Amino acid sequence: MGSILDAIRAIPRQAREGLQLGRRVRIRSDIQHVIFAGMGGSGIPGDLMQALMRESRTPVTVNKDYKLPAFAGQNTLAVVISYSGDTEETLAAYRDAITSRCTVLAITSGGKLAELCQSDKTPLIIVPGGLVPRQALGYFLFALLGCFTQSGLLAITDDTLEQAIMALENTELGRKAEELFQQFKGKVPLIYTSQALAGLGLRWKQALNENGKIPAYTGTFTELCHNEVEGSASPLMKGFHAVFIRDERDHPGVQKRMAAVKAILKEKSVTVTEIMLRGDHLLIKLCSAIQLGDYIAYFLARDAGIDPLDTPVIRQIKERVRKP
Ligand code: PA5
Repeated sequence: MGSILDAIRAIPRQAREGLQLGRRVRIRSDIQHVIFAGMGGSGIPGDLMQALMRESRTPVTVNKDYKLPAFAGQNTLAVVISYSGDTEETLAAYRDAITSRCTVLAITSGGKLAELCQSDKTPLIIVPGGLVPRQALGYFLFALLGCFTQSGLLAITDDTLEQAIMALENTELGRKAEELFQQFKGKVPLIYTSQALAGLGLRWKQALNENGKIPAYTGTFTELCHNEVEGSASPLMKGFHAVFIRDERDHPGVQKRMAAVKAILKEKSVTVTEIMLRGDHLLIKLCSAIQLGDYIAYFLARDAGIDPLDTPVIRQIKERVRKP
């Protein structure tokens, strides 16, 4: 399986392959909404696509459940992703999508999902196996980008796609993460973003949880200004480290509120890291920040002497629910 570091460094190569895989699939032009169904590392490509499609006219829903919403129907594109192809909730969502007569596109490395797609003749993108699901993000995200751009569901130029892959390749991010991870040590990270970038916050949380093996939580602006901030006076806050992931394109109201919350947290002696996204396009910013978060989680795991790839608790839960 290799190391997590190999897996992080392999993401740009995956992205190039993923683009080619995705470009082989064309989606009907009369799709009215898109639902992404997938869990954990196979769910995050949907969250990121939702962020990228925020400006598009096609509504996007991210579904992390056994059932799809009732509106799913003939004009819905259901994108069903499971790296193993055996995740219970995702298989149930796939069956729901077929029953609801959605146009379905599946992405997997094999398992039951591949079997079902082959017998149902469902369009299927097969990605290489042998990885941990969350580190197959290059394949997933760029296969979706390849497919959606050529099907007219999303407008991103080839030049931007190339720049995004170059951002994934940027070795500076590893160096930056090696400095930054020290600030996270011994604390529970609270990852804060605008609502538009919730998918990015979630990717950081997942990397910190699954690879770094620490609790981590996300919050979005401006909602957290209406509830979470009331906890800031609690002595429990000393155990947290707040991470503000900022974009110069954040709404001015979001920017003001981030500054206000940051000041309040600092007054309460809560430690804070600020990350300013860099790049000419949201996709480039996302790619660069995803790699930074993955490297931070890797350094935390390395520091703690933990194997980031193994996820024994996730496996245990899957085994327990499989038992009759
Ligand atoms: O990254 C992981 O290992 C998990 O988050 C999995 O992605 C999650 O459990 C779902 O499994 P799969 O991706 O095989 O559908």
